[in-house]
Amino acid sequence: MINFTLNGEARQLDVDPNMPLLWALRDELKMTGTKFGCGVAFCGACTVHVDGFPARSCQTFIGDLEGAEVTTIEGVDTDAAKAVQDAWVELQVPQCGYCQSGQIMSATALLADTPQPTDEDIDAAMENNICRCASYVRIRKAIHRAAEIMEA
Ligand code: FES
Ligand code: FES
Repeated sequence: MINFTLNGEARQLDVDPNMPLLWALRDELKMTGTKFGCGVAFCGACTVHVDGFPARSCQTFIGDLEGAEVTTIEGVDTDAAKAVQDAWVELQVPQCGYCQSGQIMSATALLADTPQPTDEDIDAAMENNICRCASYVRIRKAIHRAAEIMEA
C-alpha cells in the first residue's frame, strides 16, 4: 500500500510498486489530464510535479512515492500556474493540445524557481518537452508573458 498526496488530498494505492505513476494516474485514478507520449522519459507529455519539481510520470514508479506530494495538471493552482494558464489562453499557445499539460507543468515549475527567466532559462527548462505541432515560439512568448503577469 502506497500513501502519498495527490493534488492536496491523501491517497492510498494498492498496486504493484513498479507501476509507473502515469499508469496509476490514468488507469487507477482516472485522471487523464497527464498524457502518454513516449513512455521512456523523452517527450515530456507526462510531466507532473513531485515534491514541487517536474517529473516524468512514465518513468516515476509508484513504489518510490511513499509520502511524496504529487501535483498534476488537474490540481496545479499556484500563482505561477495561474499566470501560465492565463498567458497560454491569451497567446493561444496550444495547437492540437496533446503536449500541453506537460508543457504547462514544466513552465510552472520553471517560473516558481525563476520568476523572470531569460530565453536561455526557458530553452533549458523546456528543451525536453516535445511538441509535434511546433508551438515552441508561442510557448517561449507565453512564459515571458506569464512572468509579466506574476510581476504585475
Ligand atoms: S510519456 Fe513520459 S516523457 Fe514521454
Ligand atoms: S500542441 Fe500539438 S503536440 Fe504540442
